[in-house]
Amino acid sequence: MRIVSGIQPTGNLHLGNYLGAIRNWVKMQDEVTASGGQCLYFLADLHAISMPHTPAELAANTREMVAALVACGIDPDRSILFNQAQVPQHAELQWLLNGTARMGWLNRMTQWKDKAGKNREGASVALFTYPVLQAADVLLYQATHVPVGEDQKQHLELARDIAQKFNNDFCPEDAPLFTLPDAFIPPEAARIMSLRDGSSKMSKSDPSDMSRINMTDSADTIMQKVKKAKTDPEPLPAEAAGLEGRAEARNLVAIYAVMAGTTVDAVLAEFGGEGFGKFKPALGELLVETLAPINARFLQLREDKAGLDAILRKGAEKARALAVPTLDKTYEALGLVRG
Ligand code: TRP
Repeated sequence: MRIVSGIQPTGNLHLGNYLGAIRNWVKMQDEVTASGGQCLYFLADLHAISMPHTPAELAANTREMVAALVACGIDPDRSILFNQAQVPQHAELQWLLNGTARMGWLNRMTQWKDKAGKNREGASVALFTYPVLQAADVLLYQATHVPVGEDQKQHLELARDIAQKFNNDFCPEDAPLFTLPDAFIPPEAARIMSLRDGSSKMSKSDPSDMSRINMTDSADTIMQKVKKAKTDPEPLPAEAAGLEGRAEARNLVAIYAVMAGTTVDAVLAEFGGEGFGKFKPALGELLVETLAPINARFLQLREDKAGLDAILRKGAEKARALAVPTLDKTYEALGLVRG
């Protein structure tokens, strides 16, 4: 079993990031490496240049994301943690796969359509070929499983199509080069909503800092934000159906459930009939218990730029060693002479 997944470096990380991809990566690392499998996790910094960006911010966000991943439990000794920019094989394989990917396939990608919007002529070429780089990311390492959010499922299917066509066009039938990767979409990838408005996602760009729990928040701040979170005057219902039309209440109960590793119904079995005066402190404590140590570690790691760079450098070295054999075979399969 070989797990490969990437995340775009962003700054101002919050609870939504933690409960989204990051926590799931940690869980997979713990399970997969214990049974002899391998995990490769990388920062998709090459993908980040497909949209307008500020170079200094990209560099800072890349390091910040490494600090966050390590603080949350990604262990650079057990997982291979790196950034694409230090493993040139990603970009090389992308170019080689550009011969196999079809314009029509890329034109159907919903992320391309959404991100390019009405102004396709003004979109970068990188935004269009983004999914081919993503295919290269996973095919380069012969990934068997790729944990992603629902929104990335289509890109993973494209990676399989590219692998299949390449194997078909350039490999003997009994010796396909690329492994077809399976998307793995974690069941409990809950959508964490704003603490001020249960209908919008928790986001770093919300002007109200009270809307989110940041990875830089202290225990006191976390508790205060939970206590001030928007709710309604009704007590909690006894089961999930009773949260219908109560977006804020539902969000808080959902956060409790994921943090406690249980279900919404189980949380309501415990708190049904209680008001928020009782529920909020319990939720606050649960969040503080898990997040306060992570946040403290994050703040500490973030200061150590040289240490973070060393983690990425070592991870990249391991990644390159795994990447080279597949890349060599790809050149060869295509008839590219490299003396
Ligand atoms: N496109 C992914 C996202 O935005 C990030 C990503 C890049 C990725 N390469 C990948 C995810 C390879 C999984 C595998 O979330």
